[in-house]
Amino acid sequence: MKWRTFDRADALSEEAARIFLQAIESNPRIVLGLPTGRSPLGMYERVVSQCTRAYRCFRDVTTFNLDEYAGVPREHPGSYRSYMKQHLFDHVDLDPKNTHIPDGMAPDLDAECVRYEQAIHNAGGLDLTFLGLGRNGHIGFNEPGTPFDSRTRVVDLTPSTRAANAEFFPDGEVPSRAITMGIGTILSSRAIVLIASGRGKVDAIERLRSHRIDRAFPASALWNHSRVTVLWTAAAVQKLCADA
Ligand code: GLP
Repeated sequence: MKWRTFDRADALSEEAARIFLQAIESNPRIVLGLPTGRSPLGMYERVVSQCTRAYRCFRDVTTFNLDEYAGVPREHPGSYRSYMKQHLFDHVDLDPKNTHIPDGMAPDLDAECVRYEQAIHNAGGLDLTFLGLGRNGHIGFNEPGTPFDSRTRVVDLTPSTRAANAEFFPDGEVPSRAITMGIGTILSSRAIVLIASGRGKVDAIERLRSHRIDRAFPASALWNHSRVTVLWTAAAVQKLCADA
């Protein structure tokens, strides 16, 4: 695991965007795993500013998001589809048919999970996956206790995760379930970049650094992968949120 510590969130975002853009440049047909949340906002902002539609950087790129809420319409401002449109998809030349996000409104959610795994497989697998980090160590929506060989499936969200994401559902209707890539799905990515930003992440980062591999701390599964880079800063993320 490669560790990169930054003094400021914008320096972290700069580096994440550099890795992102360099990966596309060296493989224009790359298959990316993409996160949501506050931590990657600065990365997306920089990617978009350097690679607007006119540059055609994304023409042959394929993306798979890590997760999506169940029971939330895609147009809902709190959905991860809305997040991705706002922060990336609407600004670059990604072909909509190459952008994949689990369908949290599918009539049969379990079948949707099987379809999603198959779609990743059909695309040739994930080349590079960016991850955020939950305060409790979750990656995607894989909460503590998740088996490390888990695949895409429907999960119940913990009260702490629901509370952490409540601000995106001002109507108070914070979803209780989601579809997420499993830890096994994430580990099958050829390379992984974990982005952790904000004071609230210090404990989780300390725990990850301790190298204790434990199902109670999902991110520790990343120690079982040979190509993981961790970009982290303790700096607060308020500025990024304010700019978003
Ligand atoms: C949500 C997402 C995760 C993300 C986490 C941390 O729970 N499903 O994929 O990593 O939030 O987000 P933030 O960066 O906002 O702290």
